[in-house]
Amino acid sequence: MPVEDAAGKEPRTSLHGHWSSRMAFILAVTGSAVGLGNIWKFPYIAGENGGGAFVIVYLFCVFLIGMPVMMSEVLIGRRGRRNPVATMALLGEEEGSSRHWRLVGGMGVVAGILILSYYSVIAGWTLAYVLKSIGGEFAGATREQIGAIFGGFTDNWVAVGFAHTVFMALTIFVVARGVERGLEQAVRFMVPALVILMLILLGYAVSSGSFGAGVAFLLTPDFDALTWDGVLVAMGQAFFTLSIGMGAVMAYGAYLPAETSITGASASVVIADTAIAMLAGMVIFPLVFANNLDPADGPGLVFVTLPLAFGQMTGGTFFATVFFVLLTFAAWTSAIGLMEPAVAWLVERFHRTRAQAALMIGGLIWLLGFGTVLSFNQLAGATFYKGTIFQNIDHLTSNIMLPLGGVFITVFAAWIMCRNSSAEELGGAGRIYSLWRLLARYLAPLAIIFVFLKAVGLLPDFAAA
Ligand code: TRP
Repeated sequence: MPVEDAAGKEPRTSLHGHWSSRMAFILAVTGSAVGLGNIWKFPYIAGENGGGAFVIVYLFCVFLIGMPVMMSEVLIGRRGRRNPVATMALLGEEEGSSRHWRLVGGMGVVAGILILSYYSVIAGWTLAYVLKSIGGEFAGATREQIGAIFGGFTDNWVAVGFAHTVFMALTIFVVARGVERGLEQAVRFMVPALVILMLILLGYAVSSGSFGAGVAFLLTPDFDALTWDGVLVAMGQAFFTLSIGMGAVMAYGAYLPAETSITGASASVVIADTAIAMLAGMVIFPLVFANNLDPADGPGLVFVTLPLAFGQMTGGTFFATVFFVLLTFAAWTSAIGLMEPAVAWLVERFHRTRAQAALMIGGLIWLLGFGTVLSFNQLAGATFYKGTIFQNIDHLTSNIMLPLGGVFITVFAAWIMCRNSSAEELGGAGRIYSLWRLLARYLAPLAIIFVFLKAVGLLPDFAAA
């Protein structure tokens, strides 16, 4: 197919139609961003990395690296209007570089598949916890009993595998039918409901007696507790929580109407996502300290602290049920986004129907998921490099593939694309454009590479951290 001339051409359109409004796009990206990353992952990795200093680095990465990366992804996506692999190939050629930029899209497709393979297992835990909540298992339970419920469940690989299977089936079902309709509605209701529930829990955490200690842990920086590896984890979390670095936002950007402000939409998503993560931290850590738990308790942290809190509240059975249902929804809207680049690619490249593509990709992810299912039981002892299979997939994707994708995406948007192209997408070359370009050209790629090198110990210790 001939590449259209960049100037004075017919506007390019997406094969899959466009979002009905700016709000629809914001909701879709917010739905993908707000998920297990905010409520399950953020508190436990903040806990494992010493709290306050980690949070400051995380916030710095979200706003100064994450925001320009997100804007770059959306502008590339809207300009190419195809799946991430095809978009990168098309724009690479059109901007006078190379079609090999498609490899960046390809890495994103792989990252999405790998992330969803463990994400779905944790989402399966939340599904199982819906049933446990309904059954009143947490009511009045002690810390030991709650811990035993969690351990007993994750030890049982058949139960966890079954929950993972159900969650993948739900995800495949929605992806097969196309994203827009069902999803937009779900997110519209889910995000506000989740915030309200978190505020109720915050009220409980405030009255638990350890609110000061919890918030101090979250907000008081102790830079001695932070290693360069911790900085890498904070940066990886910024990418993970914003859904950036793997082409998901690029795929959603392909359906964005031409007149929508990319800066405004990105800012709304980044602020909403950060607010929810911080809220989760302010709920979790007071409960950790009030119950003498260990903040570095790992992936089980929210599955222990929150049931404990619910078990002691009046109406706790009801609130616990609603909470885990909402968390499952949040994970669901994210899981769909994780599959979208791979599915869109398979549909466009090999002319599959959406249903076939969703089944094939979903089946592969389901199979890979057993690596994570078994990481908490049969294979818990089979550790290498960063730990279990789950820990290695998580490290490889969040801390390596997503930031690396971010380097390529910003370099492409700010160095390879000509000024006119990017300025056109970002609404003209004003002050905000200049700031974006400064961050995307220099700060984001250099900071990411610097943290990589530091974390693997390849740079000397000229700055203490
Ligand atoms: N942002 C999601 C969360 O915090 C996880 C995620 C990472 C994601 N990359 C994504 C979701 C891409 C959708 C698309 O839970």
